[in-house]
Amino acid sequence: MSLTEYLEFIGDPAGDDVEGWLYPTDAQMLAVVNEVQVRRGCRGDILEIGAYKGKSAILLGFFPAAGETLVVCDVFDSESGLTADNHTENEAFYPGLQRADFEKNYLRFHDRLPTVHARPSAELDILADRSCRLVHIDGAHSYEATRADLETARRVLGPGGVVVVDDWSSAHIPGVAAAFWEQYLGGALIPLAFTKGKFYATWDPAGLTGQEVADGVAGRPELETKPPIRLGPHEARGVTMTPSAWQRYSAALRAAYAKLYAGGGSAPAPQMAGF
Ligand SMILES: C[S@@+](CC[C@H](N)C(=O)[O-])C[C@H]1O[C@@H](n2cnc3c(N)ncnc32)[C@H](O)[C@@H]1O
Repeated sequence: MSLTEYLEFIGDPAGDDVEGWLYPTDAQMLAVVNEVQVRRGCRGDILEIGAYKGKSAILLGFFPAAGETLVVCDVFDSESGLTADNHTENEAFYPGLQRADFEKNYLRFHDRLPTVHARPSAELDILADRSCRLVHIDGAHSYEATRADLETARRVLGPGGVVVVDDWSSAHIPGVAAAFWEQYLGGALIPLAFTKGKFYATWDPAGLTGQEVADGVAGRPELETKPPIRLGPHEARGVTMTPSAWQRYSAALRAAYAKLYAGGGSAPAPQMAGF
């Protein structure tokens, strides 16, 4: 399968059977960031913190060029080295997760597995400084863990590097927002774009710009960029689906939900069924 085909797969709730939390707008946005980086000649590995069953890692697996690697960090079913908070969160949200679930899904779309660090992200000091060009933070959601993951991202990102912070505005896990805004208000993080789910930013003042990302979005018929909003020293642009793309997607989503619930009481919760 190609990147384009995987984007189509993510965009079709009737066929998407990889459980997880990557939605079409962010799948397209990650592809836009990759495109801009490739055009600029940015080099480095791609790091994902928090893979679950591979929904976003499969997408990121299409990005590495020759000599680059996708590096995935997830604790999966291990409790080793986790704080009590982290353990409680994992028990609540990812019960029964196994590394094999990730591997099986990933190998449906790619010939070989990425580099996997099955350990808490606090142990990513093994990664070299400035070795990455893209870091997707989607692991533990406490303030402390997100803060540490942001510091890891800042350390491992090289020239043109982009950090993508999942759940930056999710009300049920406010620790992510606390850590994100702390980092932003520190003044060094430069916004590139944001969606409902993810914030895209860089610490490199000579790196990607919001305008370049907006230009990339303009080439995607299903996405649109909203007018810029001033956030302290910078402007940031929101990105959403176009109204017509949203109408198509939400109709397909409703149909898929209806089918799911018609299946009886044992149906998985909607967000776990690949929507
Ligand atoms: C929200 S899920 C990731 C969703 C995934 N990115 C997707 O697209 O579906 C969060 C993942 O983070 C992992 N996780 C939780 N705490 C972690 C930690 N301290 N270090 C690394 N991974 C962690 C969990 O095991 C879980 O698989």
